[in-house]
Amino acid sequence: MQFRHALLRWYRKHGRDLPWRQTRNPYAVLVSEFMLQQTQVAAVLPFYNEWLRRFPDFAALARASQKDVLHAWQGLGYYARARHLHATAKLVQDRHRDGFPSEIDSMRELPGVGRYIAHATATFAFDQAVPVVEANTSRVLTRLFDLRLPIDHTAGRNALWQYARALLPPTGARIYNSALMDLGALVCLRRPKCAICAVKTFCRANRPETLPVKRARPPIAYLVENHALVSRRNKILLQEAQHRWRGMWILPRLALDGFKPPSLQPNEVYTGVFPFTHHRITLKVFVQRKRKIDSYLGRWFNLNALDTIPIPTPHRRAIISLLKPEGSHTLRLKEHSPAITEDSDEKHDRLRSRRGRAQRPSVLC
Ligand code: ADE
Repeated sequence: MQFRHALLRWYRKHGRDLPWRQTRNPYAVLVSEFMLQQTQVAAVLPFYNEWLRRFPDFAALARASQKDVLHAWQGLGYYARARHLHATAKLVQDRHRDGFPSEIDSMRELPGVGRYIAHATATFAFDQAVPVVEANTSRVLTRLFDLRLPIDHTAGRNALWQYARALLPPTGARIYNSALMDLGALVCLRRPKCAICAVKTFCRANRPETLPVKRARPPIAYLVENHALVSRRNKILLQEAQHRWRGMWILPRLALDGFKPPSLQPNEVYTGVFPFTHHRITLKVFVQRKRKIDSYLGRWFNLNALDTIPIPTPHRRAIISLLKPEGSHTLRLKEHSPAITEDSDEKHDRLRSRRGRAQRPSVLC
């Protein structure tokens, strides 16, 4: 088919050289697809090889503790993916003695493996002639076929998978699917570069920039979450998270008294904003004494142990910012946060008085 020839010719010259394309190992492919599901390629790259070094196969991942798995995932966000991947490794070890299954239906019984991940693993690890529909290929396909149905609705979604299937080559689907993805990632962008598109003669879209159509998103919900900074000497009290970040360590949740607006609390020391799905969450941190924290699964951690436990990025940022006294030596922390400053007891005392003079609430009580 001429379309495929043109696409593959373009891909041979311009396709991306990505580490998960250099393997056919189902484990390595599955890891990449879990990571890439809600995260951009550029953000995944620093994590991928390190993950494979730490957990080189299903057996190693199945043996690892949840703490170590979440710690390795730290910074990628959407930690349910890490928990599912861990559970999948355990199931593969228990149930699939011959190795990872190659049938899509069996893959889909594994935790966290939905239609997309199963198809992607089938094609990238086993070279099966199955379609892959994700954000990049969706843009290409809706434009090629001028599909105007919302693609986040059943009819539009099903049409996309059908179109994707109709274009598949009988052999060489692994390369073809990679090429379709890369066309979406490099050329058929939200603002498409039609002038340089190698397959534009096959495209039916009149106004490609208006595609794909999606249903209106729910409005962004603004939430405030209040947490406490409780620290003594070179230790900090953290709490094991229960929901969104289950299995990770966060600043203890704070049930603020009555309806006093948090902004009027004298001991607020930090505010940060982070997105979570369709929420914008403001994280506020207040200095508290331990006895004011009413319910917690708390544990004291030495500051220089913080590098070894999983802490979600918003809380890690807050801790780094709060425990960074000027002039103290630095304790290195991994990922986005280049360093956390460690204060010796002596420096801690100096810091406290300096901050006190500056009328800034003390972060170390
Ligand atoms: N190659 C294989 N899977 C991919 C993905 N999900 N995104 C980008 N490139 C890929």
